[in-house]
Parts: sequence; structure tokens; C-alpha cells
Amino acid sequence: MLQLSVVVPTFRERENVPVLVARLAETLAGIPYEIVFVDDDSPDGTAEAARAIAVADPRVRCVQRIGRRGLSSAVIEGVLASAAPVVVVMDGDLQHDERILPRMLERLRADAADVVVGTRYAGGGGFGDLSGTRVGLSRLATRVARRTLRAETSDPMSGFFMVRRDAFMEAVRDLSGIGFKILLDLLASSPRPLKVAEEPYSFRARQAGESKLDTMALWEFGMLLLDKTVGRFVPVRFIAFALIGGIGVGVHMAILATLLAVSALAFAAAHTVATVATMCANFALNNAITYRDRRLKGSAFVRGLLGFVAICSVGALANVGIAAVLFDRFETTWWASALAGILAGAVWNFAVSSIYTWRPRPPRPAPAPVLRPDPARSL
Ligand code: GDD
Ligand code: MN
Repeated sequence: MLQLSVVVPTFRERENVPVLVARLAETLAGIPYEIVFVDDDSPDGTAEAARAIAVADPRVRCVQRIGRRGLSSAVIEGVLASAAPVVVVMDGDLQHDERILPRMLERLRADAADVVVGTRYAGGGGFGDLSGTRVGLSRLATRVARRTLRAETSDPMSGFFMVRRDAFMEAVRDLSGIGFKILLDLLASSPRPLKVAEEPYSFRARQAGESKLDTMALWEFGMLLLDKTVGRFVPVRFIAFALIGGIGVGVHMAILATLLAVSALAFAAAHTVATVATMCANFALNNAITYRDRRLKGSAFVRGLLGFVAICSVGALANVGIAAVLFDRFETTWWASALAGILAGAVWNFAVSSIYTWRPRPPRPAPAPVLRPDPARSL
């Protein structure tokens, strides 16, 4: 009977894949296991490397996602594509020490725990030679995470943990799936407090490839915290969208002021130019930040931009219309009328662009099957 599913999110890890599979075979000898790689269409051929191994070793599989990015969401899909009663999530770059897996499994059973976290912060764990700033940042984020969410572990930011499938499934529909911190997400989303045990390990240095953790990971961490605190009331994407809209006001004013100062344009013309330029800037920012996981590129970017401008134009009409009606007919104060108009416009822009501009991309439909008469029937 299968005992353990190893879920490995990968992005550009081709060289590490065969090494990881070999090391897992060694350390998991005697434990029936499977390995599921979840690759986000890495350009270096990571998925092909995994499938090349899978041909000879049916314990190995690869889920290849197209047009998607994200460590947490990859992990969720990997867990859903696997079957063992216990799942371990680990990085594909050999930084997580696979030799503690048998001990983690023992601990899960001995402590009757739901989760066993591979920790760098407790008894014997450590950071290897990770840079000082990375360690400092990691410690700070750890403190913030533990304070904001109930995460009873010394290393809530760990990407290395074992979990019972039933505990994961209880939480799966409530997971945010944003960013890098799937363990934190799980601990904060579970309907009941999870029983957590820990197993120390030392974070290894990366041998091949490079880290994908960048400044955006910090933003995504903030979004995860927001989603787990106020996300019940307001979608976090709307918060990001509104923040960028706020920046847009500044952009608009700067362009308008510049045009009025240096060009001969009349106010209405300058205002129109500033409006269009601001829509373009907002589109680019939302594409890079709010919808980073569904970022549009190339011709899709241009099409998305045109659609976005059209949507926002309608939003602007709604904004002005609602504000005018409130002000003229209902004698609402000027600022409340303006705020209501702006809010209505923003909600419209967000709702419609989330459906039309950055809709989750469905897989391209397969070509329609060619209908041939069924030889068996025609007999
Ligand atoms: N499928 C998929 N999609 N995999 C990804 C993506 C993505 O968008 N981004 C990164 N990965 C994979 C990498 O290929 C690697 O196997 C693993 O996720 C971790 O990514 P790294 O880029 O190596 O992250 P790190 O080493 O900087 O961060 C690690 O330490 C953090 C704590 O310090 C990770 O373990 C984090 O989860 C952990 O929070
Ligand atoms: Mn790494």
C-alpha cells in the first residue's frame, strides 16, 4: 500500500530533478511512495526531465501547468493529484534535507500529529550558508506570521512539511493559494487548529539553478496575511487593484500638471491624455502585480490593454453618472457623491476586468474530432 506522496513544485529545476529522485529512492527504501512534480511549464525542460524518469519509474509523475505560476497553487494541485494517506511537500532544488523524511514519518505517527514541519529554527535546525539578509528577512516574516495568524510552529515559513491527507482535505477549499507560503496558508486556513510536530534540519545551499524568491514574494506574503485576516470581507485582489488605482491618481495628476505646464494643450485635451496614459499605467501595474500569476504577454498584453481601456471608460462614465445623480438629485455632499462614484467605478473596473482581461485561462480547446463513420456500426 502506498504510504507517502512526495509533492515537489518546480520551476526551472531540470538538473536537480534526477538527483532528487535518486536521493529519495535511497532514503525512502522500504517505504512505498510516489513522487509528483508540479511544473509550471519551465522553459528549461524540467517537465520533460521528470517524464523521462517516469517512463522507467512509474512511482514518478509530472503535472505540467500551462499559463500559470505560483508555488502554493502548484503544491495544492500536486496534493490533489496524489493519493497516499500522508503527503510531504519539498522543494525541488535539494535545499531541503530528504534524509529526515523517515524521521518525519515516524514523528507523524508517534505524536499523532496532523503536520510535521521541517524547521530551521529549533533544536539542531539551521540555515546553512543562506545570506545574512535572507535569514534576517525570514526571521522578521516569521515573527509577523506567528503574530497575525495562529501558526503554532517555530518555522511557519517553511516550504518543507509533512501532512496527513485528511487534515489537508479539510482545509483545501479555504486555502488562499497565494504566493510561496503554503504551510502558513494551511495552518491559518484549517477549520480546526492542527496538531503540529517539528523535525529540525539544516537548509542546504543551492547547487544548480537559482532562487525564484524575489521582492514580489514579499508582496505576496503581505497579500496572504491580508487574505487570511480581512479576505473574508473583501477579496485581496480588489485591495491590490484599489491600491494601484490610488497610485494611478498620482500618476494622472503628475501627467496633467506636466502637460499643462509644458504643452499648449487645453485642459480637456490634457486631461484626456492623462486619463488614457493612467489607464495604460494601471493596466501594466495590475498585470505585473495584482494578476502576476496570470500575467499577459505579447499579443495577449496588447489585447488585454485595449479591453482594459474600454472597460475603464465605461467605469469612468458610471463614476461620473452616479456622482452627478447623487449630488444633483439627492443633494448628497460633494465629497460623498464623488467617493460613491469612484467606488462604483472601481468595483465595476475590478469585476469586469477580472472576468474579461485576466480571466483564468482555460486550456485551449482540443480541435474538434473528425467524425468518421464507425466501421463497426456500418457493418
Ligand atoms: N511550480 C512552481 N511554480 N514551482 C515554483 C515556482 C512556481 O511559480 N516558484 C518556485 N518554485 C519551486 C522551485 O523550483 C523550488 O523547487 C521551490 O519551488 C522553492 O523555490 P526557490 O526559488 O528555491 O525558493 P527559495 O529557496 O528561495 O525559498 C525556500 O525557502 C523559503 C523560506 O526561506 C522555499 O522553501 C520557500 O517555500 C520557503 O518559504
Ligand atoms: Mn530554494
